[in-house]
Amino acid sequence: PRLDLGLEPAKLVARVPFFAELGAHRISEIAAVLTPQLVVPGERIVTLDEPGNAMYFISSGAVEAATKHQSIRLGSGDFFGELALLTQEPRSADVTAIAYCQLLVLRVEDFQKITSAHPYLQERITRIASERLDPESLV
Ligand code: CMP
Repeated sequence: PRLDLGLEPAKLVARVPFFAELGAHRISEIAAVLTPQLVVPGERIVTLDEPGNAMYFISSGAVEAATKHQSIRLGSGDFFGELALLTQEPRSADVTAIAYCQLLVLRVEDFQKITSAHPYLQERITRIASERLDPESLV
């Protein structure tokens, strides 16, 4: 029997509210392309101005995204790193863990597959991304 370290992607995915409303079949499909990554407090996950090839879902923990203008805290259920994938611009912020975090990494190739297969996810990600890009917004 395997030790249950709580790291199975399907369980981590089901814990992200963003995915929770999808059925078990879709969750396992998405889990198959997500890679769990554990990060420690202080660890930088994304670096401002670098090219981006993945986005991240926070299964547990908290991060801080520091743009040139502001600092935003994101936690369980949030995602980050989507802007570089959508805009093909360099990273718009440094993103640093401020707690132990269990992340789920979605690489750009799989991001394209998953969002074209699930328009609902594409819509949710794009809507939140455009709020983040809106200079009037403090989301
Ligand atoms: P990306 O530009 O790929 O890398 C840095 C990430 O920080 C960015 O994607 C967003 O996910 C996040 N981010 C940048 N600006 C904001 C903001 N104003 N609000 C929330 N998250 C942001």
